[in-house]
Amino acid sequence: MRLSERIRYVGVNDFQTTLFERQWPLPYGVSYNSYLVVGEKVALIDTAAAQFGDEFLSNIKAEIGDRPVDYLVVNHMEPDHSALQSLVRREYPACEIVTNAKAAPMIEGYQGITDNIKIIKEGETLPLGEVSLQFFMVPMVHWPETMVTWCPEENTLFSGDAFGTFKAVPESVIDSESTTFDDYKDEMTRYYASIVGKYGGPAQTALKKLGGLEIKRICATHGPVWQNSIPEVVALYDRLSRYDADHGVCLAYGSMYGNTKKAALELAEAIKAKGIPCAVHDLTEENYSFALRDVFKYDTVILGSPTYNNGIFPPVRQLMQAIADRMVKGRKFIAFGSFTWAASSVKLLNEMASGAGFEILSDGITFKQGYTKDKFDAEGLASLL
Ligand code: FEO
Repeated sequence: MRLSERIRYVGVNDFQTTLFERQWPLPYGVSYNSYLVVGEKVALIDTAAAQFGDEFLSNIKAEIGDRPVDYLVVNHMEPDHSALQSLVRREYPACEIVTNAKAAPMIEGYQGITDNIKIIKEGETLPLGEVSLQFFMVPMVHWPETMVTWCPEENTLFSGDAFGTFKAVPESVIDSESTTFDDYKDEMTRYYASIVGKYGGPAQTALKKLGGLEIKRICATHGPVWQNSIPEVVALYDRLSRYDADHGVCLAYGSMYGNTKKAALELAEAIKAKGIPCAVHDLTEENYSFALRDVFKYDTVILGSPTYNNGIFPPVRQLMQAIADRMVKGRKFIAFGSFTWAASSVKLLNEMASGAGFEILSDGITFKQGYTKDKFDAEGLASLL
């Protein structure tokens, strides 16, 4: 697929894998993007996941025929992009790997490759003839070896996982009138929240470093090539990495016998009645990444959990721990939930939220045994928002 005469898309769509990193559901698939930069020399930017070797090589050959790949640029070593490095080396034995000093030991560790590796430094340029590549380090977005590759003659940024998203690429590969940024916004947010979310600081550093480039095309490792939505894509990434959020509520709960659930649904209705957006997630029915997405989207987190083993119900604790792990900042917080003989969950959730620096809007409501309206003042809690 030609993005231009000199830049070709050779990635693959994956509709088979159900869980990315064996954790994150893929209801719309995912792509592993790889690109060729074709000058007098040919550079391949990253590879793809292990199971796509035949399709990947076939994509390369469809673009360059019998020409060899002269360089393999390694921006990132997570195996969804690095698994086919040995295959590329077997197919193109003279291919020189171009990467940085932090990635080289990982190439040895994952692929056993130690020879013909060119180590480049920050800002260094690799000429390919009438086109060139320049490299910038973006450590911890989201691994320590991560770098991006800039092609100045094409105003194209090969950004690694930055600006990437779940959801397979469309037939056009690029964003277009029929495949817009809005079609991907939720999945981009879920991808960011799940995978990059902890590294808001490094993402901000990277955005500032790359801010002076006149970018006309973003070639990320997952999702469409962004040509028509670059301001929107960069703005979303900027907001997410600053933990900036819209006014609204992510209300997530778990419930064993429906009592905490009844309270959750009552509270959601009271919040919506005030005209405040409220995304509701049953953590016993869906993977917590969907709620995590909305924790990044909204400024208020409300969690409902019964007491279980004198603690927090495990699916709710998993989400709260994920929030803490990602060092989400600047959220308001409320907890609620039922108990049978000892009330612990709300107190423990408040402690975790307090530890995360959240503003605790209320001591929360914990109610004994069965839900009834008189035990749970939903309107009172909603009035705090
Ligand atoms: Fe898509 Fe961090 O690998």
